[in-house]
Amino acid sequence: AVQQHRGYSGSATAAQSEKETITKLLYNIGSRKEVEQYLRHFSSVESQKFAVIKVGGAVLTDELDTLASAITFLNRVGLYPIVLHGAGPQLNNLLEKAGVVPDYHDGIRITDEKTLEIARKVFMAENLKLVEALEKMGTRARPLPGGVFSAEYLDKDKYGFVGKITGVNKEVIEASIRAGALPILTSLAETPAGQILNVNADVAAGELARVKIVYLNEKNGLYNGDTGKKIDVINLDEEYADLLKQPWVKYGTKLKIKEIKELLDHLPRSSSVAIISAGHLHKELFTDSGAGTLIRRGFKLFH
Ligand code: ARG
Repeated sequence: AVQQHRGYSGSATAAQSEKETITKLLYNIGSRKEVEQYLRHFSSVESQKFAVIKVGGAVLTDELDTLASAITFLNRVGLYPIVLHGAGPQLNNLLEKAGVVPDYHDGIRITDEKTLEIARKVFMAENLKLVEALEKMGTRARPLPGGVFSAEYLDKDKYGFVGKITGVNKEVIEASIRAGALPILTSLAETPAGQILNVNADVAAGELARVKIVYLNEKNGLYNGDTGKKIDVINLDEEYADLLKQPWVKYGTKLKIKEIKELLDHLPRSSSVAIISAGHLHKELFTDSGAGTLIRRGFKLFH
């Protein structure tokens, strides 16, 4: 199949008018003023620093086209998010077929040799699947399923082939963006000696330090377990301690909130985390009211 790349067919003016069309589309979801303000805000930070989008594994199987369109949309207005994806459900599926029972310790997947072998395969396949879906839409993307994160064993006896990230090879990411291609990453890392290790994708997303960290999943944000209502904003400075005391904040939700707190504590105060579904990503980013759950340290800093 012939794939259309913007670089081949489109002139600079074509890309410009396309950007204008997309911007006009955005005016449908919010006021012109807010859309313009967020566009300016997100593109003012050097294009390199915009966002990291952490894509939950289930989104790749259930909503691949919506996901690829949402990312394409951002790219068409001139933004270059770093995309990092998991593949948890796909991995569990294959492990089950291979007769391996998934095993966790403190929420961390214990990774033996067989699990790693299957994980590596499934991560690479899912990575390519997303890259191809993007390229099919004319969005340039580069598969970076390895070579980005370096790591050490977290605790070899306890967890097996699980890594603790010690460094990020920014150059590979920057080279991809410079070349006009979106970097598509997985949560695999290597030791200095080249042993592949499985790393926590949420932690990996944090290591990439961007203004906006987006968690894309099937649900449209975090839900209050008592009221069943979606949580609009969490201001960690004021709400964190209370939130952790809530009986419905347990297991995965608790771990996630703790990780997000940890993450934001180490980023500039203006950074924030959004939890949102692929279909509502642009509404979350380009309007004041958003669409999912916004988590930040304190009150609003800009505008
Ligand atoms: N668009 C703004 C941002 O990305 C505000 C989003 C507000 N979101 C919310 N769920 N209340 O920072």
